[in-house]
Amino acid sequence: MDQIVIFDTTLRDGEQSPGCSMNLKEKIEVAKCLEKMKVDVIEAGFAISSPGDFESVSTIAKTVRDCSVASLARANVKDIDTAWEAVKMAADPRIHLFIATSPLHMEFKLKMTPEEVLASVSSMTAHAKKYCSNIEFSAEDATRSDWDFLVKIVDAAIRAGATTVNIPDTVGYTTPAEMRELIEYLRKNVPDSDKAIFSVHCHNDLGLATANSLAGVLGGARQIECTVNGLGERAGNTALEEVVMAMHTRPTVYPFSARIDTTQISRASRTVYNIIGQSAPLNKPIVGRNAFAHEAGIHQHGVLANKQTYEILTPESLGIQTNNIVLGKHSGKHAVEDRLRQLGYTLSKEELVACFEEFKVLCDKKKTVTDADLEAIAEHRAVADVDVQNGYKLDWFAVHTSNFTTATCTVSLEKNGEKFEDVCLGDGPIDAAFNAIDKIVKPVEHTFDIYNIHSISEGKDTLGDVTVKLVAGGRTYTGKGLSTDVIEASIVAYISAVNKLCAATKKEV
Ligand code: KIV
Ligand code: ZN
Repeated sequence: MDQIVIFDTTLRDGEQSPGCSMNLKEKIEVAKCLEKMKVDVIEAGFAISSPGDFESVSTIAKTVRDCSVASLARANVKDIDTAWEAVKMAADPRIHLFIATSPLHMEFKLKMTPEEVLASVSSMTAHAKKYCSNIEFSAEDATRSDWDFLVKIVDAAIRAGATTVNIPDTVGYTTPAEMRELIEYLRKNVPDSDKAIFSVHCHNDLGLATANSLAGVLGGARQIECTVNGLGERAGNTALEEVVMAMHTRPTVYPFSARIDTTQISRASRTVYNIIGQSAPLNKPIVGRNAFAHEAGIHQHGVLANKQTYEILTPESLGIQTNNIVLGKHSGKHAVEDRLRQLGYTLSKEELVACFEEFKVLCDKKKTVTDADLEAIAEHRAVADVDVQNGYKLDWFAVHTSNFTTATCTVSLEKNGEKFEDVCLGDGPIDAAFNAIDKIVKPVEHTFDIYNIHSISEGKDTLGDVTVKLVAGGRTYTGKGLSTDVIEASIVAYISAVNKLCAATKKEV
């Protein structure tokens, strides 16, 4: 079977989309998940775009050993030099340079003639090649470019040393039949097309990204660019889990193999959603909560008789445990560690101790602790603000609220052994709590983007999982809190977001 290279751009195309920004620690957490899932290439960022991006690309390049690490660069010397500086310590560094090739982009965005664009493809690919053998060239907006011009562009890139040529459907405009035909056309008409791997990078504006990527592969592409949960500009990119599971489930239609360990998909999806403070739509393919739920009687009857009647994939193949073991206050550290390992978490000693402590606290509040609770605890630890360890922590809080008085909240925070206390009124107990925290911390001016609570499991004693997203200077800062008390979870989430905001804005925390 032909091998398909899975190029993951969650940390670049995904991270650059609104509401998906991540800090360094979060990006490293995602990169580790991607490495464990065995993607072939991690596009770690766009090194020139900011000092923060440069730092995260270079840290990921030094950390990840089992995948190639790429940085994006425009087709100019400064971008390429910076991309190389950032990835050069990787086990297998890749420079990914791009320039737009459609008439619209060349005339209105680049203000360059087609001849100038062609010349820049040759000279800039050759420049990148001086640094590194693994070079990817992308023709931005390829699917709205003239096909014969694209032949010249791809030819120039391959002659100058590109080892992968990517044909992006930048605005999600193409269709499966057209994508397949385009890849076939290029492979047939570019003289040395067999000297490079063809790649597809599809956006999902018309909901066709997965279909277009798979069609590209049928046309001869051997790399798919995708993101976990389909994150990405506008309607997103091809979802990694969808293309991988389509090939996995229909091997006769797609006789290709990928290196991906599919049992890491569910965990990677949850980690990414947790970090960006979102959750999967219930009916999202592969990773939505309802992907394996059968509500209609006729379906339940069929599934009980034989799972295959209504299930084409098994939850186990995605790493979803179905033997839901219930733990309780008598369960020891080993039982908890064992269950976490079965759920796909390999935690350090310190992380395990912290998870176990939280587990014990939860056992006092809740009769039984389910897999969903344990996963929530582990995920929250994974996205905790370790890089702002010196930030504020909740010491205690007290609220007074009723439907005929104004809510009040007193909050005591602790930082480096010092305690800070303040009290505020608010439009409800959570507003009052957040106001009291603002009074103590005085974070830079920000707006409130998202506040949401969702329950981890069923029952009145469920854990409340709170996400708070703050926006300042065009970036998003996500905080998470987990408790059976939603006011406490909200306060913890807000403190976590504020700590990240302060750390990023260099205000001392
Ligand atoms: O969508 C696109 O064209 C891109 C390129 C930079 C590869 O993201
Ligand atoms: Zn893109």
